[in-house]
Amino acid sequence: MSHLLTPLVTKKLTLSNRLVMPPMATAKSKGDGKVTKELLDYYDEKTKGGYIPLVIIEHSFITEQGKASENQLSVADDSVIEGITELAKVLHKNGSKVAMQLNHAGSGSYESTGFDIVAPSVIAHPVKHNVPIELTRDQIKKIVEEFKTAAIRTKKAGFDAVEIHSAHAYLLNQFYSPITNKRTDEYGGDIKGRIRIHLEVIKAIREAVGEDFPILLRLGAGDYTEGGSTVEDSIIAAKEFEKAGVDILDISGGICRYTNPNSTEPGYFSDTCKPIKEAVNIPVILTGGITTAEQAEKLLDKGAADLIGVGRAILKNSLWAKEAVEYFK
Ligand SMILES: Cc1cc2nc3c(=O)[nH]c(=O)nc-3n(C[C@H](O)[C@H](O)[C@H](O)COP(=O)(O)O)c2cc1C
Repeated sequence: MSHLLTPLVTKKLTLSNRLVMPPMATAKSKGDGKVTKELLDYYDEKTKGGYIPLVIIEHSFITEQGKASENQLSVADDSVIEGITELAKVLHKNGSKVAMQLNHAGSGSYESTGFDIVAPSVIAHPVKHNVPIELTRDQIKKIVEEFKTAAIRTKKAGFDAVEIHSAHAYLLNQFYSPITNKRTDEYGGDIKGRIRIHLEVIKAIREAVGEDFPILLRLGAGDYTEGGSTVEDSIIAAKEFEKAGVDILDISGGICRYTNPNSTEPGYFSDTCKPIKEAVNIPVILTGGITTAEQAEKLLDKGAADLIGVGRAILKNSLWAKEAVEYFK
């Protein structure tokens, strides 16, 4: 059997093959962040037939202050539970397990929320160029709580997992990257300091959701730029996340977001992903530039990852996963 079609069985999740639909913002919510029919129809179309065993729903904001854009999905208060319950049902009906990606945009937050724009340090957001206010320790504790309550809502809605977003220049990535974290307290400095907030978020979520509920973490593992985070950082971080109870690591880019400035090869983050996979005992997802089943198979064969995320190819062609599975049957 092909590698791609080999099931992945973990203590908490059984996946029928190695394909993952990674989180992709659709902007199909209205200003209130609620699930819309358009959003339900979109996920229904993408997952029909049960060819994608794990779908990670697009980033959803855990608090209004950390909202990234006008029509982003929300997990910020209990009024969203009804809608996201419907969303989980659509995915389950089609045979997919579903995770919700939880996000705080930090300095990348949407200017029109009326809230202060906050971040680990007073460094302009690399893309939006917002200049944020530095978070106090008390504000950091509040954000940890907001991740926790968002995870509780997700579990209540019947989701199978949560994913903590620490990639693509959003808040947790801003703590992780030495480019955006210049703090001199315990939340800055070396890699252990820069992932302190992550470890607090993981612990808070774990205590709230219990031992059996899977926690994924999307790590913007490398910045691919001078003075940015390195492969060495990501290996230390990955091991700490595993120890703290993360069940699956999802590897992507950091301040460079989801492209690698040095490579457009299929699986262009594999130079970071493979050493991470070798350093931990939990499954690792690799995403970026993969457009054919053969490319996915090759990356699995060479041990670059355990699971393969395919984003834009599925966005373009809703039958992509069906065709990939049938290619190897
Ligand atoms: C329209 C669009 C929206 C995205 N939204 C998110 C998101 O909400 N969260 C996230 O972690 N990544 C997001 N990404 C990145 C994708 O998950 C993925 O990592 C990226 O598209 C590279 O994979 P691909 O080459 O298979 O598309 C988005 C990408 C696209 C194209």
